Amino acid sequence: MEAKEQIRTIQFGNVLETDHHKHIFSNNKKSVSLYKKSMKKAIKLIANHLENRDTPFTGTSITSIREKIDAIGLEENFEGKSLDYVLDELKAIYLNDCIHFHDPKYIAHLNCPILTPTLVAEAFISSLNSSMDTWDQSTGATFIELKLVEWTIEKLGYPQRADGIFTSGGTQSNMMGLLLARDHYIKTHYDIDPKMDGLPADASKFRVLCSEVSHFSLKKNLSLLGLGQNAVVPVAVDSDFKMNVHALKKVIQQQKDLGNIPIAIVGTAGTTDFGSIDPLTEIAAIAAENKLWFHVDAAYGGGLLISEKHKNKLEGIEFSDSVTIDYHKTFYQPVSSSGFFMRDKLYVDYIKYHADYLNSKEQEDEGIPNMVKKSIQTTRRFDALKLWFTLRIIGTKGLSTYMEKAIDNALFTANLLRNRDDFELIHHPEISTIVFRYTPWKADERSFCGLNSYIRKAIFNEGKAIITSTKVYNEVFLKFTLLNPLTTPADIEEIIALIVAHGQEYSLIN
Ligand SMILES: Cc1ncc(COP(=O)(O)O)c(C=O)c1O
Repeated sequence: MEAKEQIRTIQFGNVLETDHHKHIFSNNKKSVSLYKKSMKKAIKLIANHLENRDTPFTGTSITSIREKIDAIGLEENFEGKSLDYVLDELKAIYLNDCIHFHDPKYIAHLNCPILTPTLVAEAFISSLNSSMDTWDQSTGATFIELKLVEWTIEKLGYPQRADGIFTSGGTQSNMMGLLLARDHYIKTHYDIDPKMDGLPADASKFRVLCSEVSHFSLKKNLSLLGLGQNAVVPVAVDSDFKMNVHALKKVIQQQKDLGNIPIAIVGTAGTTDFGSIDPLTEIAAIAAENKLWFHVDAAYGGGLLISEKHKNKLEGIEFSDSVTIDYHKTFYQPVSSSGFFMRDKLYVDYIKYHADYLNSKEQEDEGIPNMVKKSIQTTRRFDALKLWFTLRIIGTKGLSTYMEKAIDNALFTANLLRNRDDFELIHHPEISTIVFRYTPWKADERSFCGLNSYIRKAIFNEGKAIITSTKVYNEVFLKFTLLNPLTTPADIEEIIALIVAHGQEYSLIN
């Protein structure tokens, strides 16, 4: 060992311990003491930061942040710095200007505020670092996850034979749904085992039907699954941005006439822009009639399952073959926490793999639970513990009030905008997003696109609120995604006033 590197060494049992060893999280007294002190400092810094910022953003520039980070030499003298130094540095390069999703005026994307019990759970998740792939890396964690899977299955109204798994997000859950749909079709229509032999020549004709406003992850996943983005066939939506079932029937027939092979329909329960929920019961019937897999992307709308007031909006989800639910959207969980559910546990066979070192066939025969067979990941976080803390501490009833408040806020916003001549609202909010635009002049005078793009950017650069924009039929619209139950009608009115103020500013300079 180099004398310089070996700052201080002490004999500890048979192990020669260097000062660096205290950083290894262990039962060593020095490590435990360092852990306690470090976490205390981190928590103090975060709490101070929370108390001293009352806007979702500071409005700082990309250049200013990039320059500060560029200036840091990661390997200066190959030595580390003290925690105090690094925390101070973090303030400058990240903390001072980070985006606050918990701020009542952050109403941009599908990022929810998170719950304090989940942060306590995170402390256990990251410190004990269980990995969910096998029993011998997770023990009790496996049964905690399984209990939450069963809980969600019951909320979905799935039969007892259903199964599920926590995933990294809606994108991964959607991929699992499409993977099962693809392999189920192959297994039942060809003399091929897709897991062993890959895809049949016909695979280039496989088609998946989903609404024209469904999430882009479907296209991305189909390209990863070897079917190509062109396998997605968009189905027209009605005036509420829900899949039009007459158009769906027509598209299925058209695809068959073209010689293509429809294999699945994806219904969305909560589209990203409009929160619209496709008519799930009718789609399920069309899927059954045509022997197609029916996947529901409820990444956003899944939270309604626990609301007595709104769960009826998801009627028909129980007839699906698979479902995506993002707990990190409408169950108020920190990223990441998501789930994939399948109607029949036999479908696990399409992804199951036995690795001798991990989950051998013998272990399965002995009844040792190994979650890795159900997942497309191997090492996997114990994200389920966050939902566990949420249900144990806040309870389903408490949790359901958050989304109910968000939905009330969306209805309040819709009424507000409908009563104004200078705004155009293009849908009735079904969950908690609102898509609209500022229209202070007549449509035939000038386009509204430049104006609404300017408003979004100006509000972001000012930092007092964060909203977003999207394109509907090639026109720019503004979007609110209301998830925070602490957002008040007064906050919404203030944000509308900001939109008008920046809109007027645009009119003056253009
Ligand atoms: C409807 C829908 N599906 C899937 C996703 C992807 O989820 P994730 O970002 O968790 O991968 C999103 C993300 O916003 C979504 O809105």
